Amino acid sequence: MNVLGIESSCDETSVAIISNEILTANLISSQDFHAQFGGVVPELSSRAHLQIIIPLLKAALKKSNLNLSDIDLICATAGPGLIGALLVGLTFAKGLSYSLNKPFVAVNHIEGHIYSGFLMDEKPEFPYLVLVVSGGHTLLLLVESFTKVHQLGTTVDDAAGEAFDKVSKLLGFGYPGGPQIEQAAKQGNSEIISFPIADLKEPYNFSFSGLKTSVLRYVQNNFKDVSSISAGDKNDIASAFQKAVVKALSNKVEKALKQFPVKSISLTGGVAANKALRESFALISKKYDKKLVIPGLEFCGDNAAMIAFRGMKSYEHGLVNDLDFSPYPGLTPKHFS
Ligand code: KG4
Ligand code: ZN
Repeated sequence: MNVLGIESSCDETSVAIISNEILTANLISSQDFHAQFGGVVPELSSRAHLQIIIPLLKAALKKSNLNLSDIDLICATAGPGLIGALLVGLTFAKGLSYSLNKPFVAVNHIEGHIYSGFLMDEKPEFPYLVLVVSGGHTLLLLVESFTKVHQLGTTVDDAAGEAFDKVSKLLGFGYPGGPQIEQAAKQGNSEIISFPIADLKEPYNFSFSGLKTSVLRYVQNNFKDVSSISAGDKNDIASAFQKAVVKALSNKVEKALKQFPVKSISLTGGVAANKALRESFALISKKYDKKLVIPGLEFCGDNAAMIAFRGMKSYEHGLVNDLDFSPYPGLTPKHFS
């Protein structure tokens, strides 16, 4: 069976093919031009998806040694995401499904991330805990099977990646902020400043807006403006901030491990590229003797391989969507409770 996956929810256009359970292509085109605007511009994102989606499909077919008529199943991200951007991939997928007369599966983007560990040779074992951390989401989930997921907690304000992006902007670094904060943090001393970690009533929820505000206050109280912060001071601020985020995320994972007898833990989403966070997860997995699955970088950020995989599993469990499927007002994950 040849499964086509299409992802266009934000600023990555991606087309992937899973052929007889083997990933044969996962092409990702990142829209780097948003950096000049300090964030993703939705209309420009949609236009860029439109420009690249057909060449990407052709390249993915070529890489997989397949013709379009060989595709048996078509899966596309159907939300959450930017509505105009989503519509490009989704409408394209529906058109292919109609013209090829092959089934179409609408995939929830978060469900794609949740199961992305299965794209690795070493796969998660059910039940497992997964932390999905990206520019738009921060979710801690207990995954029992391909059809049963419990959401333990989420952010009550900013997503983890969003906090990286906002603090990056505050320090005069560019967008996306995560890699730049990480780079600065490497050269800084995380012990000089202590930023607070939110203590919420809900045991597994996260909050990053207070942390972001304390970084802002620290800058306002100690410097005239951004241009007067030395590179060394920026590094120390970045380092202390990153330490607080990693601690906030890791604390909740440890708490969940004490309550839920899982076999594995997984970490995914764009922020999972962060080395300090990966190292913290490695320590936790050792401490609690759990299998750790962190997908490779090409599967952590937005990619169509995870969409093809999730769509394929949904199809195996009997899901096929009608072509009048709408991504608005939003796709609720099928199996969340
Ligand atoms: O999953 P993703 O590519 O897109 C979505 O938001 O869905 O995640 C992008 C987010 C951005 O906020 C970016 O700053 C963050 O992931 N990010 C990182 C790192 N690389 C990317 N955050 C921390 N450390 C990194 N190395
Ligand atoms: Zn994502």
